[in-house]
Amino acid sequence: MQPAPDAPILFFDSGLGGLTVLGPTRALLPTAPIVYAADYAGLPYGGKSNEELAARVPALLGRLVERYQPRLAVIACNTASTIALAHVRAALDLPIVGTVPAIKPAAVMTASGVIGVLGTEATVRQPYVDDLSAQFARDKTVLRHGSPGLVTAAEAKLRGEPVDPDAIVRAIAGLRDQPCGEALDVIVLACTHFPLLQDELQAAAGPGVRLIDGAAGIARRIAHLTEGQPWPDRPAPGIAVFTRSDDRPPPPLAALAPYGIGSIETI
Ligand code: DGL
Repeated sequence: MQPAPDAPILFFDSGLGGLTVLGPTRALLPTAPIVYAADYAGLPYGGKSNEELAARVPALLGRLVERYQPRLAVIACNTASTIALAHVRAALDLPIVGTVPAIKPAAVMTASGVIGVLGTEATVRQPYVDDLSAQFARDKTVLRHGSPGLVTAAEAKLRGEPVDPDAIVRAIAGLRDQPCGEALDVIVLACTHFPLLQDELQAAAGPGVRLIDGAAGIARRIAHLTEGQPWPDRPAPGIAVFTRSDDRPPPPLAALAPYGIGSIETI
C-alpha cells in the first residue's frame, strides 16, 4: 500500500548531527514532509554502553513512529546504527535506513593506504567497524579515534556559539599521532555531527587529506526506497522534536530553519 502524501520521513539522532543527512535528502526530495528527532535527554550517545543504546534507541524510535506515523525512518547517527540497527529493524515494521562509516569509498580513495576513522568512542570500538575494515579495506591500514569533543563543538557551532579550537586539533592529532598516522590521506567522518565541522577539520588536517562522509549515499538510498511514492505538491515546514533535558534546551528555531524546520516540540 502507498503511504499518504503527507506521511513524513523521520530522521533520528542523539542531537543535531543528523541534520547533515537531512540536508542532502531535502535536496533530492524537496517536498518530503520531515520530522527531525533529537534525543537530547540521551546526548551524547558516544559515552554510552552498547546495552544501554540497544535498549534505548528502539524504544524511543517506537514512540516516535507511533506518534508521527512516518513512511520511513533514518537513523542518522553512526553510534546508534552500528549498535542498534538490527534491534530497531526487528522491533519496527517500516523501512529503516542506517548510517555506517564510509570505509568502503575511503579504501578506494586512499593513495597512501592509510585511512583514518573519526567517530564517537562507542562507534570506533564496534565490531561493525572491524567487519567493514575486513571486508573493504583488508589491504589498508585503518586508524581509529573516538572524539567526544567534536560532538560538543558541532552542537555549539550550530547554535552559533564558538567552536573550541583545541577539540579540532586534538581530534586530528588522535589519528595522526598513531603509528603510520603521518601517511594518512583520507579521513572518514564516522559521526553525523562531524560534517558540521568540515571546514575546521579540513584546515587542521591540511590539503593532503580528504574528508569523506556517507550523507550523500544515504540520501540516494532514501530517494530509491521511496521512489514512486506520492509527495505533497509543495514543501511544508518540518517539525523538530527533542526529548526533554533539564540542562540542554532545544536550539533556537533560526538554527534549524535552513534545514526546512518550522516548529519545535519536546517530548
Ligand atoms: N551523531 C552521532 C553519531 O553519528 C553521535 C553523537 C553522540 O551522541 O555522541 O555517531
